[in-house]
Amino acid sequence: MDFKHLVNTRYSVRSYSSQPVEEEKLMLVLEAACKAPSAVNYQPVKFYVIKSPGKLQEIFGCYHRTWFSTAPVVIVVTGLHSIAWKRGSDGKDHTDIDAAIAIDHLTLQAADLGLGTCWICNFDVEKTSKTLGLSSGEEPIALIPLGYPSDENIPVKKRKRLNEMVEWL
Ligand SMILES: Cc1cc2nc3c(=O)[nH]c(=O)nc-3n(C[C@H](O)[C@H](O)[C@H](O)COP(=O)(O)O)c2cc1C
Repeated sequence: MDFKHLVNTRYSVRSYSSQPVEEEKLMLVLEAACKAPSAVNYQPVKFYVIKSPGKLQEIFGCYHRTWFSTAPVVIVVTGLHSIAWKRGSDGKDHTDIDAAIAIDHLTLQAADLGLGTCWICNFDVEKTSKTLGLSSGEEPIALIPLGYPSDENIPVKKRKRLNEMVEWL
């Protein structure tokens, strides 16, 4: 897909069909996420792919929305604060930035393959950590449902106008 078209057509999909995600497509999505740049190339991000019915039920329990439990795959993105770059001048931890770039690669690659995704950050962190058996230095950052959208209608983007967001100096 032409990049401009891709950016305009990716949207938060909140209803998934039961059609399974092909293994090759899932691998392309994960590869795109793993190719994302990160501060000092430290790559402090991990991806947990949840596909088995039992684990899916557990992860659906971490974010109670009917639409979420229609997803055939959920990717949990975690950040490893201990290995992330911290800026020398103020100690700023770049884990969240690195994870966000990886997730953006993931969601755009998915959209290019006709797959839907949605960022979810409003989840139960403690329950998610328990479900994945994460150690204390590993923070779940987002849950990303992945699957074919059950609805073909692409919503119109609601965004601030460019001149509200950009300043020319
Ligand atoms: C960091 C972040 C966290 C988000 N968390 C949630 C969430 O918990 N639940 C949800 O339904 N959507 C969530 N979203 C999706 C946003 O609501 C959505 O991206 C925004 O409204 C723009 O719509 P669009 O993605 O369709 O272009 C999140 C998006 C981002 C970037």
